Amino acid sequence: MELARGLAHGLALPSNCVFDIEDGGLAARPRLLVDIDLTDTRSVDRFRQAMGTPPARRDWLFIVARTDARHQTQTQANALNASRNIVRSEARPALLRMMSVAGQRDGSRAAVEALLAAPGGRSIHAAGVELAGLFSSFSDARPFSLQAVHAVGTELIGSIGDTGAANWLDTVRGHHEGTFQHCLLVAGVAAAYAARHLRGTRMARRLTDAALLHDIGKACVPLHVLDKPGRLDETELDLVRAHPRAAVDYLASTPGLEPEVLDAVLHHHEALDGSGYPDGLRGGDITALTRILTVCDIFAALVERRAYKPPLSDEDAIAILVDGALDGKVDYIRVRSLAEVFGMNLPATLDDVRVNMARAAESLPAQ
Ligand SMILES: [Fe+2]
Ligand SMILES: [Fe+2]
Repeated sequence: MELARGLAHGLALPSNCVFDIEDGGLAARPRLLVDIDLTDTRSVDRFRQAMGTPPARRDWLFIVARTDARHQTQTQANALNASRNIVRSEARPALLRMMSVAGQRDGSRAAVEALLAAPGGRSIHAAGVELAGLFSSFSDARPFSLQAVHAVGTELIGSIGDTGAANWLDTVRGHHEGTFQHCLLVAGVAAAYAARHLRGTRMARRLTDAALLHDIGKACVPLHVLDKPGRLDETELDLVRAHPRAAVDYLASTPGLEPEVLDAVLHHHEALDGSGYPDGLRGGDITALTRILTVCDIFAALVERRAYKPPLSDEDAIAILVDGALDGKVDYIRVRSLAEVFGMNLPATLDDVRVNMARAAESLPAQ
């Protein structure tokens, strides 16, 4: 058995070799153990050629040689449909652990099956695979398929219309973490907005395209910065603030990608009062598409589940967006439209919000 041989040799496998594993102790079906440096694009290309592009979903097991680029190797492994991505130094105990549960279900396969069975799971799985491919293409400066992005966007709008936004977002939060969770949530919130307010319009596709692509520039930002629970220092902030421009530098050469979508990706962190980045745009310079994407992005970030913070409720997230509108940062009309998606009816205008707040203050008993 190749696995036993690999273990016997202390996993001193020749680099870039592929082994068929038919080990009943590990699984009932054939598996592949791949020893490959996923940070080496030539190795990855050779592997893709050997396996066919795009690689078919199968039970692959990757062992990566390097430990200092987990984010990049994870996105590569996801793009190659890997079932597991194991750091080489941890491979031996991990394999032994898997062998020790011989005959039991494979965790990652079970996780995919659970996702597929959950509300909206098929569209979430498809979007997750597409996002992994996008991040990987960005990291390698390879082109991506705009058609595939369109197709995922259309599927999201249909799926979220059937499933309901709240259930769909719950499934994402239960099955994904980190940057992918955020990108999926933004795509889902945008699709829900499009399903309710933009169905059948050009803007609907532009919005889902922009939502799927908006944060791919984060592949440039070190993971320890992206995942830092506390405040970022100025150097770290500069790294984060570079992500919209990095995305557009990569996307600009994509044939068929509409300038409106590029503009929304570049400016999704602008604020109506000019305090945003990268260009400090103000009110009228920020397009309707960008304003909608910004509101969806902020909402998704607020309802995200992180290890260090529980998700806010939809109501609390909308309340924070209304505060942002009162502060002159985000577009109230788009906040109101998004609130409708989640079953909330906000006052017609920001002035009505102020009147309601004043009345509420008056009705409070005097101190
Ligand atoms: Fe962003
Ligand atoms: Fe974002």
